Amino acid sequence: MAPFKNILVSLILALPAFAACGAALPSSLTLRANSRLPDPFTFYDGTKVTSQNDWACRREEINQLFQRLELGTLPPKPASVTGSLSGNSLTVNVSHEGKSISFTASVQFPSGTAPFPAIIAIGGSSIPTPSGVAIINFNNNDIAAQDNTGSRGRGKFYTLYGSGHSAAATTAWAWGVARIIDVLETIPSSRINLSRLGVTGCSRNGKGALIVGALETRIALTIPQESGSGGAACWRISDSMKSRGVNVQTASQIVTENVWFSPLFNQYVNRVNDLPIDHHLLAGMVAPRGLFVIDHSTIDWLGPESVFGCMKTGTKVYQALGIADRMGVSQVGGHNHCQFPSSQQSELNAFVDKFLRGNTAANTNIVRTDKANNAGFVEANWVNWTTPTLS
Ligand SMILES: *[C@@H]1O[C@H](CO)[C@@H](O)[C@H](O)[C@H]1NC(C)=O
Ligand SMILES: *[C@@H]1O[C@H](CO)[C@@H](O)[C@H](O)[C@H]1NC(C)=O
Ligand SMILES: *[C@@H]1O[C@H](CO)[C@@H](O)[C@H](O)[C@H]1NC(C)=O
Repeated sequence: MAPFKNILVSLILALPAFAACGAALPSSLTLRANSRLPDPFTFYDGTKVTSQNDWACRREEINQLFQRLELGTLPPKPASVTGSLSGNSLTVNVSHEGKSISFTASVQFPSGTAPFPAIIAIGGSSIPTPSGVAIINFNNNDIAAQDNTGSRGRGKFYTLYGSGHSAAATTAWAWGVARIIDVLETIPSSRINLSRLGVTGCSRNGKGALIVGALETRIALTIPQESGSGGAACWRISDSMKSRGVNVQTASQIVTENVWFSPLFNQYVNRVNDLPIDHHLLAGMVAPRGLFVIDHSTIDWLGPESVFGCMKTGTKVYQALGIADRMGVSQVGGHNHCQFPSSQQSELNAFVDKFLRGNTAANTNIVRTDKANNAGFVEANWVNWTTPTLS
């Protein structure tokens, strides 16, 4: 009996973590039209999510669905990732199958006593720098360009993996952020506390910030700012706004503008109702980590109704996990795009306090819009499932 038992034990140990989950996704997905926001708590095969363990499996399923339908493949950590921190300059060197790239990120350190929390700023930061927090400036355009549709396959990510790689620019940025963290992990004297990392970005880089936070689980606090469609908005709600005459960015427009999504996504942009995902599930992927969505209520292009409705629906994942206070949404209008309004300062402070400074008492129960009637979002039109309590 003993040898069999040993074989069994080593078999179980060799299996990947989510092998304990139910059926894997089939290689060819069957898409079913659903004009409402897909149920976070039902697996692709129709099984219900009834426990926190189930949610871990469902989160991985959602991750795979996003990569197969929208984002392209996020490659794992390459064989060689090395680097160094010299003054304010972090160098990251990566080799993969005979090809090498090198990139740098500048680090602004605060005054005070190290180790510091740090916020990785995708293409620079548009939020006021919180005191005592370092800013790591990630030059995302260097990793994956985003000038226009001609940027497909351009940037250091594609130098390494080939210009035909399926990864969206946003996915390539998540890969680049992961390599920055890999290098920091090798430098204990960096003066940065790697358990207190945030990510932010505004507008197109806000789409990036949400996608980075969803894909990279070493990020403790994700702060997308005014990210619109492709970020905190839901494709379905943006299409609905468009059909009602609002000049909002949509899936079918976005793929003609830039390379923020994988070429795999092109075939779905005129039939987003067939997708088994929408961006409330991208927010759900960030759970149980902190997520604070900063948004704008008076720029139609950003889809205020879509963002508020999508993210309010995303909070249901956090509710189900019993951690509703870890996701916040604040939507305020009347300022220039990406110009942070002072009325959101105390809310930002609360999220930074709780997730980057360890103040568990900070009040982060924030889901609000300054636009009347939930910015036009009518939940009953979009949500026909219930939120379980998962334990
Ligand atoms: C929700 O609506 C979709 C169609 O839009 C339908 O396919 C699905 O079965 C409905 N779910 C529930 C729980 O009623
Ligand atoms: C990184 O690559 C650069 C340029 O190729 C090289 O000069 C440097 O020595 C490398 N640093 C590390 C730590 O590997
Ligand atoms: C780093 O952050 C973690 C998580 O907030 C905290 O528990 C830990 O004490 C911090 N480490 C130092 C050395 O401050």
